[in-house]
Amino acid sequence: MARITASVYTSHVPAIGAALDQGKSDEPYWRPLFRGYDFSKSWLAERRPDVVFLVYNDHATAFSLDLIPTFAIGMGERFDPADEGWGPRPVPPVFGHPALAAHIAQSVIQQDFDLTLVNRMDVDHGLTVPLSLMCAGPQGADAAWPFKVIPFAVNVVQYPVPSGRRCFQLGQALRRAVETFDEDLDVQVWGTGGMSHQLQGPRAGLINREWDNAWMDRLIADPAACSRVPHIDYVREAGSEGIELVMWLIARGAMADVAGGAAPKVAHRFYHVPCSNTAVGHLILEDT
Ligand code: DHB
Ligand code: FE
Repeated sequence: MARITASVYTSHVPAIGAALDQGKSDEPYWRPLFRGYDFSKSWLAERRPDVVFLVYNDHATAFSLDLIPTFAIGMGERFDPADEGWGPRPVPPVFGHPALAAHIAQSVIQQDFDLTLVNRMDVDHGLTVPLSLMCAGPQGADAAWPFKVIPFAVNVVQYPVPSGRRCFQLGQALRRAVETFDEDLDVQVWGTGGMSHQLQGPRAGLINREWDNAWMDRLIADPAACSRVPHIDYVREAGSEGIELVMWLIARGAMADVAGGAAPKVAHRFYHVPCSNTAVGHLILEDT
């Protein structure tokens, strides 16, 4: 059977992709940020999952105000890097896992989560930047990511957005779905976005280290309590784009301890300020 072995959490700041694509990762501003992912790259190369279920948000790229799905699962064979206004990032396309995606959709919808099924879309920095941060090896447009990726887009851009609690419950449903797929696959769930940031208005540039780190502590040790944080707390404490953090709760809800198993091992934890307008947070949790 398929099984979830680990979860990864990371911010997905677009400037990280630009720094990599423009060869700036060794510059003094960027070096400390990328060093925080050195461990992660070797960890991932060693673990090498078959499939990553990658939770991210589309930033008005594949979707627009014309169409705003709350939860959208990528069912297709292939998803290309999106043109976000300055040409697509020169990174490999993403190859999906249509059979597993179809099974997850069937199972999760029957568990009362109404997903939108997406057969065709381009994927923006929310999905490609985490892949760039986590994967070692060549990343040019003619290279290949080392595993299949099921994109899972959550609306955290246009209100109303889903609650942390709903995301946490969805993660639990996702675990049940994966565990009933009749093929021997190693699956990781990644949650992306955050941490504190606000991109516009009088509070633009807001960073809240204390809140971010306390929230990460709670995500690790007491995810059910963390899932009850109301959306207004994210916005007040972590800025309007801090709400992206609810996506981390999908990955956390998919871990074994939430289903009655053992607590996960914290394999890696990293926090860095500043990165563009954003606090970068990163965690790796292994099921034990
Ligand atoms: C920035 C961060 C984001 O998460 C995003 O989606 C867009 C911009 C930033 O800090 O610039
Ligand atoms: Fe974002």
